[in-house]
Amino acid sequence: MSPAAAPRGDDAVAGQPGGYTGPARHVAIIMDGNGRWAKKRFLPRAVGHKRGVDAVREVVRAARHMGLEALTLYAFSSENWKRPEDEISDLMGLLRAFIRSDIDEFAANDVRLKIIGDYKMLPADIVELIEDALARTAQGRSTTLAIALNYGSQQEIARAAAAAAAKGAVTVEAIEAELDTADMPPLDLLIRTSGEIRLSNFLLWQAAYAEMWFTDVLWPDFTPGHLREALDHYATRERRYGGR
Ligand code: FPP
Repeated sequence: MSPAAAPRGDDAVAGQPGGYTGPARHVAIIMDGNGRWAKKRFLPRAVGHKRGVDAVREVVRAARHMGLEALTLYAFSSENWKRPEDEISDLMGLLRAFIRSDIDEFAANDVRLKIIGDYKMLPADIVELIEDALARTAQGRSTTLAIALNYGSQQEIARAAAAAAAKGAVTVEAIEAELDTADMPPLDLLIRTSGEIRLSNFLLWQAAYAEMWFTDVLWPDFTPGHLREALDHYATRERRYGGR
């Protein structure tokens, strides 16, 4: 492989805020506003999604540089199948291209890829790409990047409760142990872009005590600086978990 094509195994990316030493371990993002970003520019929605993938790449790099333990991104919900076929196909195409182009960088930088949601319902070649990527990065010890694909939180909770019941006890701990996120740190901060103030069936259980950060920024415009701003705000919050 030529040096130019070598995966980035660097530890200093120009222009990225680094050295985050705040308290957040796990951040999740509802990446919203790709369509509106494109519309504002009289561009096809597909271009908005493509720029959304560029934002994903930069935010994942920033999360790693900041030393976050886990980043969970809502890429495709179980309700997104209701979108027009050509948009679903564009999103699948982008996902396919993203895994192919970025897996070497993840592996080179010790990032562990994880998928939450029922990804086996995706096109067979993507399932194969995902499983290869999961196997290649399984030992990653820097940041866990969880991508939610065909994910619905209510479905996840129902599945987890059924699994807990099958094993005997339906307790909070038993359900938690069956969630897709069971091996991840507790969710600290949930970010949603594009000005919508709702959770849209994302991490409903995990968000029980998470801080929320809503911003009007449309996802393709979301930068590592915005992530840093949300984390800085998070660091000022006093979490009481119901106590006082
Ligand atoms: C919302 O925009 C965004 C999505 C449908 C999911 C996010 C998808 C990406 C960032 C691209 C694929 C991701 C990966 C990881 C390869 P919207 O279309 O709902 O925007 P709108 O509300 O403005 O119409």
